[in-house]
Amino acid sequence: MQLRLSKTDQLLVGVDKALRAIVPHSNPSTRPLPVTSDVLPKLSITEARHVAGLMRINHTGEVCAQGLYHGQAFSAKNDAVRQSMQHSADEEVDHLVWCETRLDELGSHPSIFTPLWYALSFGLGAVAGAISNEFSLGFVAETEAQVSEHLQEHIARLPEQDTRSKEILAQMDVEELHHRELALASGGAALSPTVRRTMRWLANRMKDTAYHL
Ligand SMILES: [Fe+2]
Ligand SMILES: [Fe+2]
Repeated sequence: MQLRLSKTDQLLVGVDKALRAIVPHSNPSTRPLPVTSDVLPKLSITEARHVAGLMRINHTGEVCAQGLYHGQAFSAKNDAVRQSMQHSADEEVDHLVWCETRLDELGSHPSIFTPLWYALSFGLGAVAGAISNEFSLGFVAETEAQVSEHLQEHIARLPEQDTRSKEILAQMDVEELHHRELALASGGAALSPTVRRTMRWLANRMKDTAYHL
């Protein structure tokens, strides 16, 4: 039997989820880092800064994924969409923690604009959810496809010896593509070229900012 929460309880759960998305170290990861060795790769200061910039972008991407899934669940027109996306949303929490962990190892930090990215993504997810289930799921599918593209690009831009970061991003990539397939299989519609271009433009602004800040 499913527990039905009061409006106040739902609000508190929502605030708890939002805080967990934006406050570092507030999520216990359900799975360990997907790496084959505990030895940290040796990196020069310049290389470590570059890797931290890339991992900060990926961390921000995962914050955005949290915002998107939470916003979508907030306004979704029925429980079927929420439930079909729950597994993906759970895996996104692991991705967030993996990126946080790698940033810690590099002596770096998440983007200082994390709350802003979460709020923006929540808003976009909520609007998508309010439009229709098909649009909302199509939005998730397109987001995951674009995330997969940039993960591939980052894997190619990482220093040769940083197999640790590469393994983390490769596992995330496998799961992002699975999230895309799930969203499409649940009824996601293809988005118009204008919407896809706008999403790409926004993602690029996020990447430019998060690499440095
Ligand atoms: Fe992810
Ligand atoms: Fe994903």
